[in-house]
Amino acid sequence: MITTEALTRGYDDGARGRVRVLDGVSLQVAAGEFLAVVGRSGSGKSTLLHVLGGLDSGFTGEVTVAGTRLSGLGDRALAKFRNESVGFVFQSFHLIQGLSALENVALPAAFAANDADEARAKEALARVGLGEKTERLPSQLSGGERQRVAIARSLFNKPRVLLCDEPTGNLDLQTADEVIGLFKSLNQDGLTIIAVTHEDRLRAAASRVLMLNDGRLAPHPDPLPRGGEGDR
Ligand SMILES: Nc1ncnc2c1ncn2[C@@H]1O[C@H](COP(=O)(O)OP(=O)(O)OP(=O)(O)O)[C@@H](O)[C@H]1O
Ligand SMILES: [Mg+2]
Repeated sequence: MITTEALTRGYDDGARGRVRVLDGVSLQVAAGEFLAVVGRSGSGKSTLLHVLGGLDSGFTGEVTVAGTRLSGLGDRALAKFRNESVGFVFQSFHLIQGLSALENVALPAAFAANDADEARAKEALARVGLGEKTERLPSQLSGGERQRVAIARSLFNKPRVLLCDEPTGNLDLQTADEVIGLFKSLNQDGLTIIAVTHEDRLRAAASRVLMLNDGRLAPHPDPLPRGGEGDR
């Protein structure tokens, strides 16, 4: 589903010159995987997600996501790719305050312009357990519910891959668990998920964990024990 080869992304950093945030990243993600990526702040996790999601074209190397080769694509082709193939979930939800849950979810189709879009938005909200709250404004929803609206929005165009940047970073533990359970369930339905995270609980939910360090991805050196806690 995802392949990168020699993926390199650098930025000009004043006196330090060109700094390579990603430095020859090779990554293969199969369809149906749930991959967690960890790494210290500034290690390039968001940068990697932006490249994979077609939000950043300033990289070199080969990147193919859901059958689209991103290397060298122009802005319009990248926008089409983003719209059709990937969904994004962010730490801070990125909902529009003046719009209802339903309108936020249908945003990719410009505010549920027709009945089919509205039905699809309702279906996405039902999938995340918010079928009864479609008319609520973000201010009338809890943090976990807001993130579930954002997840429903990311599902609206039926993406092949979900890219999540610290999706539980603004949630308390119990709410985070609900959102993690939702990711697991979506993954069991066949959605490929990549989640950047600092959280052990999200890491434990993933089928594979990689660590980004010095611009490279490597297997995580300290896998969490699965099932049971404290029994050793
Ligand atoms: N547009 C940019 N211009 C210059 N430098 C940038 C730009 N975007 C990111 N960087 C630098 O690239 C490095 C990696 O940033 P990135 O946001 O990918 O880190 P991160 O691993 O997501 O960190 P965090 O865990 O804090 O979110 C940082 O040093 C950052 O300052
Ligand atoms: Mg980040």
